[in-house]
Amino acid sequence: MATKFLLVGNGAREHAIAAALCANKNVCLYAYMSARNPGIEALCRSSGGSAALGNIHAPAPIAEWALKQGIEIAFPSPDAVLAAGVSDELIKRGIRVAAPTKAASRIEWDKAFLRQLMEQGRIPGCPKYGFFKQPGELDGFIDSLGGQVAVKPVGLTGGKGVAVVGYQLKDAAEAKAYARAVLTQGIGGAGVIIEEKLEGEEFTLQAFCDGRALIPMPAVQDHKRANVGDTGPNTGGMGAYSGPGHLLPFLTQAQYDEAFKVMQKVARILDLEANIRFSGVMYGQFMLTAKGIYLIEINARFGDPEAVNVLALLQTPLSSVFETISHGGRLSKMKVKFKSEATVVKYLVPTGYPAKAVPPSPLIVDAKKLKSSKAELFYASVDARADGLYTASSRALAILGVGKTIAEAEKKAEAGCSAVAGPVWHRPDIGTKELIEKRIAHIKQLRGK
Ligand code: AMP
Ligand code: GLY
Repeated sequence: MATKFLLVGNGAREHAIAAALCANKNVCLYAYMSARNPGIEALCRSSGGSAALGNIHAPAPIAEWALKQGIEIAFPSPDAVLAAGVSDELIKRGIRVAAPTKAASRIEWDKAFLRQLMEQGRIPGCPKYGFFKQPGELDGFIDSLGGQVAVKPVGLTGGKGVAVVGYQLKDAAEAKAYARAVLTQGIGGAGVIIEEKLEGEEFTLQAFCDGRALIPMPAVQDHKRANVGDTGPNTGGMGAYSGPGHLLPFLTQAQYDEAFKVMQKVARILDLEANIRFSGVMYGQFMLTAKGIYLIEINARFGDPEAVNVLALLQTPLSSVFETISHGGRLSKMKVKFKSEATVVKYLVPTGYPAKAVPPSPLIVDAKKLKSSKAELFYASVDARADGLYTASSRALAILGVGKTIAEAEKKAEAGCSAVAGPVWHRPDIGTKELIEKRIAHIKQLRGK
């Protein structure tokens, strides 16, 4: 008999999760979405399940719907859904869940909690930081770091609340003003963190976790800035790549292992000190600097688009991994395998994104061209109307290329992007030799300083 899975969420990340779940023919998929995702809808239909539209941040109606459908295992996916306590409500109603509870996802929605845990557990990779609820000592602390700081609202801001001197902030004076604004305007809720500014190359390491054991996935590098050459405003992520052998061209196996150890320690300290078992996907955002690896943040979920990269390589059925996690405590006995290939994901976003996307406009996907490109398409924020597909205000489509090398994967992703017509654009530089060489040179230059 097929197992009934519930997926909560409707982005390209969730479309990739849905596709990975449905690769197992014994999965019957149900989805609860805040907007229609045509890709997820089609997978629900073809697997014998169904999709519902509603508020994905309202735990009770989701749990009621899930009970009616006879759901056995649920995966609430986006950060705000976890912070709203959707996992907790499903568990309370007797449904098994492969994602963290509200208390466990606190490592994402409360940046001060994560830093305090790292201090308590003497976990390496913690930058110098200060946590403030009142503006009194802000200026002195920023000065003590020579004005070279990152200013971070403590709570969730959709990934757009952090500002760093030299990027979004001109100087120490602007950092002080922004930190004060975070407090007075209540941006992200509960206070502000000031951190020493780190310089290096960022990468993402995701891991499956059952509360005790962690299984790492291939490392990925995302591209947050909107424009070519890492310029322009921050976005939810314009695309990401992963290299053969689960590493990145600037990242050694030893550095990957070091990052993984940090994540294992975070799970352990959560269990030991806070009595919280983290089950689900743990996402570590790291910065490789001349002084080694630093942990920038932990998320309690898959990355978007990083999920699209790693799930393309997953060889073990995702349904089995979720099943094991939702049972608690047996992941250590499981062999989870990923192919050794490279991936490149490029997001097609509406013209004007992120500041002001063009009004909803038709998007035409040339199915024949897409097929011959050998790229895969995942729906993100689109409006599927009776007369076709339209853009919405956010990232529209994620295009994935897989290959033996990053270059081969990049070529496929580019060919896939050219199969889509409409007022959308993407970063052609993601995954290219030029940009990767720039990353390697950046690390070399920092080391030489
Ligand atoms: P976060 O929301 O914590 O992931 O931060 C968003 C982005 O801000 C990160 O991906 C980094 O690019 C940047 N950032 C965060 N913390 C620091 C830091 N301590 N030094 C430099 N950049 C940072
Ligand atoms: N791609 C960044 C994130 O999902 O947080």
